[in-house]
Amino acid sequence: MADNSQIQLVSKPTAALLNRFATPLDVKNLAAEYGTPLYLVDEDTLHAKARELHRAYSKYKGPVKVAYSIKANFSPAVIRAFMKDGLTFDLTSLGELHFIRQCNADPENVIYTSVTEEPEEYVEVLRSGVRRVVVSSHKGMMNLAYAAGKAGVRPLAMVRINPEVATDAKVRASYKNGKFGVPFNGGTIDSAAKMVKHMLASDLLKFEGFHFHLGSQITDFSCYTHALDKMDAFMTKMKKENPAFQVNTFDIGGGTPVFYNDPVPTPAEMAENHTSRLNQLADNHGVFTLMIESGRFLVAESSILVSKIVNTKEYNEHKIVIVDAGYHILLDAALLKQEYPQEVIPVVDSKDQTTGLAAPKNTHLAGRLCDTYDVFPLSKASDMSSPEVGNYVSFYNVGAYSVVFNMPFHCQTKPPIVMKDSDGKYRLVRKGTTYEHLFAEEGGHLA
Ligand SMILES: Cc1ncc(COP(=O)(O)O)c(C=O)c1O
Repeated sequence: MADNSQIQLVSKPTAALLNRFATPLDVKNLAAEYGTPLYLVDEDTLHAKARELHRAYSKYKGPVKVAYSIKANFSPAVIRAFMKDGLTFDLTSLGELHFIRQCNADPENVIYTSVTEEPEEYVEVLRSGVRRVVVSSHKGMMNLAYAAGKAGVRPLAMVRINPEVATDAKVRASYKNGKFGVPFNGGTIDSAAKMVKHMLASDLLKFEGFHFHLGSQITDFSCYTHALDKMDAFMTKMKKENPAFQVNTFDIGGGTPVFYNDPVPTPAEMAENHTSRLNQLADNHGVFTLMIESGRFLVAESSILVSKIVNTKEYNEHKIVIVDAGYHILLDAALLKQEYPQEVIPVVDSKDQTTGLAAPKNTHLAGRLCDTYDVFPLSKASDMSSPEVGNYVSFYNVGAYSVVFNMPFHCQTKPPIVMKDSDGKYRLVRKGTTYEHLFAEEGGHLA
């Protein structure tokens, strides 16, 4: 990983890619009203991303469904925004299911892909009205069958395949002997071929199709074509061995990339890579509903994290700029060295500020935590001009895998979230927590 802890020369062309839905004046006013750090979310961006991803696969010859992986951002305001777009919800836990039910989303619009696959978990899933479940192990399949018997329903069961293809991604989910899914033809009962055969003969489960998920932030799309080639051969074999075999739904998982540091291909460019391969698959095996999952792409650009510069120091031609955010509210900055683009927002009417100062050559943007890893990698698109105390620093494209990882390290509270609705008005959608909440949550009032 390149060392980006020192500022690179600001690249204006990439800075132009930032979704500045909040003006500097908005940032200043909202920070004055709600304090910092503060997350801002733009509803219109959520809808635009849902439309863009769906449109990208318009050349596929069958129906296309976009499923939002709520693990990326389970804010009820975000879920409700995507309900307006008619998205399917990709869930992986009973906690996520609770959120979806509380938002009154239609359980018909859920695809449930668990890692744990426990019997009572599946009973609750089926009793809630969810009918589409992806199983990832033989035991999981048997547990789903048990739950189906108990709930008195026959769910649509899909098999999660681990296609074991090389994936060049920030986070890889398909690798040999990995934890997700089953191989095509494993030597044990944890084998897609054996599981499909079992489902085709089952009165309790209805075989619906396949699922794979290759990784997150994928920019080299050859992994999709390799996986689809393998799927094609496997489906041919399945049909030969089981005349009743038919795929109704095929889910190719998530991975659509987002701009952080280097420009990334668009969803249309991504789809261009494998839509003809998907059409071939439909020609060879019958048209299926294509499911595209996405967490990161659908939410990342919708959100800005606003922080405040609270201290600076300079020595040996380095400038350390300390903000009141930290990796406790932007974990992937530390975990994945994610280069969220940052921009200093000057406090325009302050008399004692000097604004418009170029960023010192060696600027380090540090968080508030007493931890070595709490230094934010800078993006090529970052603009750290005027890094002075009192100014704000906006972190862009933080909507995915950030709020969901908020943690109280150093007794830190959760920031509020404010959404800019489609009518242009800002609205509080999550209150910030307080030290009193945290003390109580940690058992401070228990004897
Ligand atoms: C099964 C599954 N589908 C979809 C996703 C979403 O991936 P991304 O956010 O990269 O689109 C994930 C992420 O972990 C996942 O595990």
